[in-house]
Amino acid sequence: MHINSYSHSRILNNPKYQNIMSSKLEEELPPHVVIFPFPAQGHMNCMLNLAHLFCLTDFHVTFVVSEFSHRLLLSSTSVPATFAAYPGFQFRSIPDGLPDHHPRSGAKAADVVPAVTNHMVPLFKKMMAEEDFLASPHRRPATCFVADGFFTFAVDFAEENGIPLIYFRTPSASYFWAYFHVDDLIQAQEIPINAEKSMDLLVEGVPGMKGFLRRRDLPGFFRTYDLNEPLLQSLAVATKQIVRAQAVIFNTFDDLEGPIVSLMLEKLPRIFTIGPIHEQQKSKLMEKKSEASAVAANFWAEDRSCIDWLSAQPRRSVIYVSFGSTTVVTREQLMEFWHGLVNSSQRFLWVMRPDSVAGKDGDGRVPAELAEGAKEKGYFVKWVPQEEVLNHPAVGGFLTHSGWNSTLESIVAGVPMICWPYFGDQTINSRFVSEVWKIGVDIKDTCDRLIIEEVIREVMVVRKDEFLERADGMAKMAKKAVERGVEHGPLIQAQAQIHRSLKCEK
Ligand code: UDX
Repeated sequence: MHINSYSHSRILNNPKYQNIMSSKLEEELPPHVVIFPFPAQGHMNCMLNLAHLFCLTDFHVTFVVSEFSHRLLLSSTSVPATFAAYPGFQFRSIPDGLPDHHPRSGAKAADVVPAVTNHMVPLFKKMMAEEDFLASPHRRPATCFVADGFFTFAVDFAEENGIPLIYFRTPSASYFWAYFHVDDLIQAQEIPINAEKSMDLLVEGVPGMKGFLRRRDLPGFFRTYDLNEPLLQSLAVATKQIVRAQAVIFNTFDDLEGPIVSLMLEKLPRIFTIGPIHEQQKSKLMEKKSEASAVAANFWAEDRSCIDWLSAQPRRSVIYVSFGSTTVVTREQLMEFWHGLVNSSQRFLWVMRPDSVAGKDGDGRVPAELAEGAKEKGYFVKWVPQEEVLNHPAVGGFLTHSGWNSTLESIVAGVPMICWPYFGDQTINSRFVSEVWKIGVDIKDTCDRLIIEEVIREVMVVRKDEFLERADGMAKMAKKAVERGVEHGPLIQAQAQIHRSLKCEK
């Protein structure tokens, strides 16, 4: 374990803090964790959950966000109310360099990557240096840096400054593991994926996934003819250098991805599997009999009318449709989904974000003819309290883009999935859902009303009991992982590791 000697001695020598620090620092002040997520909904959710867990064990936490996402978090969520209960928590916001009117989501989401690298990261480093690792009379200089697994700068930064680094990989462990073998896959000519070979050919190059992983299930960024494609390369670098951190956190649990995690143990430093993190948070709140609410880190305002609508529907009769925070569908795809849903004769609740339809027709409104044509059985909203929706007794299935947070939330709620992955980790997550855990159906690379109608019937009617039973079994295992976590699970160990790093410091 590296020790935090640089920042520690620097702060102790700073006349500004000398008197107060020397008396207080050694014994009284708790560890101070600086958490820096990639500023996108799916990353922010689980990393705010982690921040809350640290607050619940009385750690000090600085949570670094872009000014844009800070405004969204403060305006449309319970975040301010939750964190008001913890004086040791603070947000630090940094501009991302994009104009205010830039949406940073939907079709423009990709602009956030260079904005973070070129603008936020240099400002973050400057802030840390100029503010003595965010020390104050009431706060130690940062004792641990928890960086998004996406951030390649974090390793050099942590090593140069002698601060322990824990990476938080927000997607699945399986996705990480496939990326970790990118060089082997290139050497075996399994990537780049070119259309001359069948997409259904099995992939040999990812240990633990032989026999079920097809080329079409590989991470979405592998679908390129060009091995120099920037996102493929930068994610490959970020994945490989993770071994230089002191530890890595995954939002997963052993009964879910244990076989993959055990293979990873041979290559990685310490691994903490602390998922499902949203459930860990609730459990910790109960254990502490805390009145604070669980964090709901929404970038859009929740429309709670959907809960009233759900409450008027029969048990397990509704298919919930949401493609997460970034997916953009074309007008043609939208129509295929709509026809598939309506023709299936099942009830549905459909989240249509204002920026989720591509092209000139995507003006943020649900097309009038869709709303009208579905009003008997369907309900459209812009954003919902997703965990609450998934746990509502009326929901019997989830048509999802297979984002990792959505997948875990569905697993905990015991809701079977129909997977229509969009990009990145989602293509591999959906394969695990259908082939390994067998709690859903994967329809990737299709978007056809007949297929959609058929799979909805399969999950909601024909094989309903079978899917629900398996999903319920997985939900029980998720809850067991959380129960174990309260006493001596990986989360407690991660916190102990941060405490130990403080002892080294002394
Ligand atoms: C993407 C990746 O696919 C994901 O695996 C990665 O870790 C982060 O980036 P995203 O498209 O945001 O994520 O999907 P997902 O990971 O499922 O996260 C979406 C979050 O938004 C979920 O926590 C979900 O509960 C929440 N949500 C979604 C709502 O609260 N309301 C909604 O209406 C829709």
